[in-house]
Amino acid sequence: MFYEPRKKDHGLAKNPFNSLIIPRPIGWISTVDDKGIFNLAPYSFFNAVSYSPPTVMFASGVGSTEDKTKDSARNVELTGEFVCNLATWDTKEQMNQSSATLPPETDEIALANLTPISSALVAAPRIAEAPVHLECKYLKTVDMPSWNENDVYKVLFGEVIGIHINDDVITDKGLIDVAKIMPIGRLGYNDYTKVDKETSFTLDRPA
Ligand SMILES: Cc1cc2nc3c(=O)[nH]c(=O)nc-3n(C[C@H](O)[C@H](O)[C@H](O)COP(=O)(O)O)c2cc1C
Repeated sequence: MFYEPRKKDHGLAKNPFNSLIIPRPIGWISTVDDKGIFNLAPYSFFNAVSYSPPTVMFASGVGSTEDKTKDSARNVELTGEFVCNLATWDTKEQMNQSSATLPPETDEIALANLTPISSALVAAPRIAEAPVHLECKYLKTVDMPSWNENDVYKVLFGEVIGIHINDDVITDKGLIDVAKIMPIGRLGYNDYTKVDKETSFTLDRPA
């Protein structure tokens, strides 16, 4: 089959786009607003975009508040900081719970029964239950072209200025033990995948 996204002529039960770019990493973004209220939400339009300086991005759609901005994006632009927590098999339910559309006054970290802990370099909290935290300094926002005002995305970039790794997930050889972390990735629809010993493999690069 062939379809043109602009014509929405895929003829399938659901828009297949998200099911074709898979698995996507999940940036579980924690922020704090100017009143000190914590916020937490998952973003799978998320990725690392460069190695040095290490830089990540997430794309935020339209929010339900008057400013039509999601809390994470608003807080990042306001405070200039965020933390990206690694979503894992063990925290999948809480990750999902933290995606609920809630007013800015609601602290999703408390709501999901997660533990906020201080960061080293930024005011945004880290999630204690996550094995990896990337402390990020906001760089810039790129507003994406949109077809209509209900479907507007902005991409926020951040430099990773501090990285916490739970010592338990580092092997004797000094490598990250992905089987211990068991990160989860987003597939299409409401489907996910997990990375573990059985599903990860090594390919040596050609010379
Ligand atoms: C796994 C997962 C991935 C998501 N990825 C995105 C995304 O990339 N961009 C987006 O705008 N919303 C995404 N959402 C929806 C947001 O998490 C949701 O709108 C959330 O309420 C935003 O919270 P905030 O307003 O506190 O930032 C995702 C939800 C889930 C469950």
